[in-house]
Amino acid sequence: MKLIKFPLFLLLLISVVGFSQTPTDFLTKEFHKERRDILRLKMPKNTVAVVFSNSLKNRANDVDYVFHQDPNFYYLTGYREPNGVLVMFSENQVDANGDTYNEILYVQKRDARAEQWNGKRLGVEGAKSKLGFKITMNSDEFEKSSIDFKKFNKVFIDGKFKDDYRNLRGIDIFDLVESFKQKTNYKPDNYISQVKMYFYSQIKDTPLENRANVVAVIKQYQNQYTELQKDKFIQGYIKAKDENLVKEMRQKITLAMNPKTIVDVDFLGATLADMREIKTPAELKLLTKAIRISAVGQIEVMKAMKPHMSETELQGIHEFVYKKYGAEYEGYPSIVGAGNNGCILHYIENNKTKVGNDLVLMDLGAEYRGYTADVTRTIPANGKFTKEQKAIYNIVYNAQEAGIKASVVGASFGAPNAACKQEINKGLFALGIIKSLDEKHNYLPHGVSHYLGLDVHDPGTYRAFRANTVITVEPGIYIPEGSPCDKKWWGIAVRIEDDILITENGPVNLSAEAPRKSDEIEKMMAKKSVLDEFVLPNLDK
Ligand code: GLY
Ligand code: MN
Ligand code: MN
Repeated sequence: MKLIKFPLFLLLLISVVGFSQTPTDFLTKEFHKERRDILRLKMPKNTVAVVFSNSLKNRANDVDYVFHQDPNFYYLTGYREPNGVLVMFSENQVDANGDTYNEILYVQKRDARAEQWNGKRLGVEGAKSKLGFKITMNSDEFEKSSIDFKKFNKVFIDGKFKDDYRNLRGIDIFDLVESFKQKTNYKPDNYISQVKMYFYSQIKDTPLENRANVVAVIKQYQNQYTELQKDKFIQGYIKAKDENLVKEMRQKITLAMNPKTIVDVDFLGATLADMREIKTPAELKLLTKAIRISAVGQIEVMKAMKPHMSETELQGIHEFVYKKYGAEYEGYPSIVGAGNNGCILHYIENNKTKVGNDLVLMDLGAEYRGYTADVTRTIPANGKFTKEQKAIYNIVYNAQEAGIKASVVGASFGAPNAACKQEINKGLFALGIIKSLDEKHNYLPHGVSHYLGLDVHDPGTYRAFRANTVITVEPGIYIPEGSPCDKKWWGIAVRIEDDILITENGPVNLSAEAPRKSDEIEKMMAKKSVLDEFVLPNLDK
């Protein structure tokens, strides 16, 4: 045998990148650092932000639920383990040695036994090299840390603590949050939300003679913001029977407006929502991949679907395609509903054993490197739309076309919704399902758009559309059994959902690969599938 000398540089290259055999296309540490730098610039002077990772949720005994990182925490750090804390300062701080720093990442401590059971941890060294933090510490150092939060003008946290975690083994989010509460004297009732603060200011600044205007606005908003209904000062102001009571309430509100705590629960979420609404090129690359994977899933199911298949089985085909592409999760629980099941908007039982000759509504999205798609196709299980199914389908299609067209820079967030609803009403009226164009009905009970990104229902500002925002456009018509229309429509549910990138040059449909027109769907369904030959033994005989 001839001995071939392997070039040293190749060996080195292989050892560094070649055989790590784990995905290498996650967002880079530079991406996360840039996000922190942008956030820091937006933080007011002498403030600190404290962001907690998600907690590990226990399922039973020693089995935990699959961990998924909190999207805001992930966006800022790239850390994908539980029990971490990010502390970011608006200005440089100086340590005992005179060195400066402006952020600390606390991470799970390395632990050989825990890692043997539950997988590798990055630890402080890994977090330094892989995530690019200058200062990393073990989580237990957060408890011991001497950061004097009280010297800052504000301490920002990402929303009120939901306190929905158990105190598990070792230092976990439960301990870290408790420690934070002690350090900052945090009490849930010690702050006033932005919504409440807005109405408090309105009450304080509005002359007595104009009280009726403020009362009218509060009444308009209090169903949406239930905290207004529970606030004794606001309710006292609304219900005050005489001028003295009104004055008394205004005085109490003026006093209450003085913040009793330096902890602010609004700034961070709102600022990150503003940032996350606009995707960077690196984010768009991953999001587009997640969406294209999901579109291919829809195509493969179109080819494979047969009336004898179950909803669960169809779900499995989509998810197999996701895994085949290396997508780590589904972005949300998959929805596969045949016939009347499609009328349940977030139907996730997916347990009908035969889809039969019904329409099958399939709303699924791969999560790829953190970014999730959200794509829905509704197709006839036997490959051919009936006359009634096609009539409803085409209304939804036309509505979606109008909604996508309305998704342009500068349009209001509600523009696609308005455009879709107008088409839906026109179509339902033409078929006699509603009796007038402005009839109130429940055949489309949801809005047609949301932002998309790290979360399926991603945060955003709901202001006029800006370039590089990704939204869904997802009109539907749902006609459950027993609806007040001709029986021939009952059990028909159609949703078509695509993921739309808003650009200066107009909307781009990122999920366009999956056929949307009824005749294109029928054509795709007539194709052969590799799964036609995939027959498993019958285990029930
Ligand atoms: N899949 C959830 C939604 O469409 O919003
Ligand atoms: Mn959606
Ligand atoms: Mn969806």
